[in-house]
Amino acid sequence: MQEMVEVFLLGKKYTVPAELTIMDAMEYAGYKLVRGCGCRSGFCGACAVVYRIKGTTEIKVCLSCQTKIEAGMCVGQIVSYPTNKRTFDIEEIKPTANIMGQLYPEIYSCIGCNACTKGCPQGLNVMQYIAYAQRGEYERCAHESFDCVGCNICASRCPAQITHSAVGLLARRLTGKYIAPECEHLELRVKEIEEGKWNVELKKLMDKPMDEIKDLYNHREIEK
Ligand code: SF4
Ligand code: SF4
Ligand code: FES
Repeated sequence: MQEMVEVFLLGKKYTVPAELTIMDAMEYAGYKLVRGCGCRSGFCGACAVVYRIKGTTEIKVCLSCQTKIEAGMCVGQIVSYPTNKRTFDIEEIKPTANIMGQLYPEIYSCIGCNACTKGCPQGLNVMQYIAYAQRGEYERCAHESFDCVGCNICASRCPAQITHSAVGLLARRLTGKYIAPECEHLELRVKEIEEGKWNVELKKLMDKPMDEIKDLYNHREIEK
């Protein structure tokens, strides 16, 4: 017989199968997830939830598509978080020592509490990549934040009100545009594609079944 657990989803009590993820449990309970649901695979960062196990004091955060439901979970959603993402034209800004501070001055209010790192479902050292951003070490910030999925769980916990995902994104854009070495063979390949040289191969690829395309992608050669 299927094991069932009692949980509280958005303030209401439900009994759901124990093997479900939090996201699946919400749908099992009848919620139609229009917001707070995207890739279902831990990549898009849309499904952050906050929860507490009934009777405990600790508040926890996680991606609901990646976390199993547990007996006594009291779950609330973070379907949207009011981040403070600045707009900029990457063609106009440069990776100067102070550009990050100009766009995101709040990074210098970090008090080193490490709440951002503790909450990150990707296991990133978030406090460290903010420290790199403070020091103008954009390439290091870009690498340290590379696997950020933009769930903004860190931002929801930060007493300095930093929008970490936006800081990491700026560092990665500066790195990609100005700091990382040019990749000549990639530029050549893009030019060839634009000129139509690969049209036949691309058409053949697009006509393949989806599973075969996924397999090719998953086993592609990755340049060091
Ligand atoms: S760094 Fe922040 S926004 Fe990015 S994955 Fe971690 S918690 Fe989510
Ligand atoms: S949560 Fe905010 S204040 Fe605390 S270490 Fe992270 S960036 Fe700094
Ligand atoms: S739905 Fe995309 S990370 Fe959970």
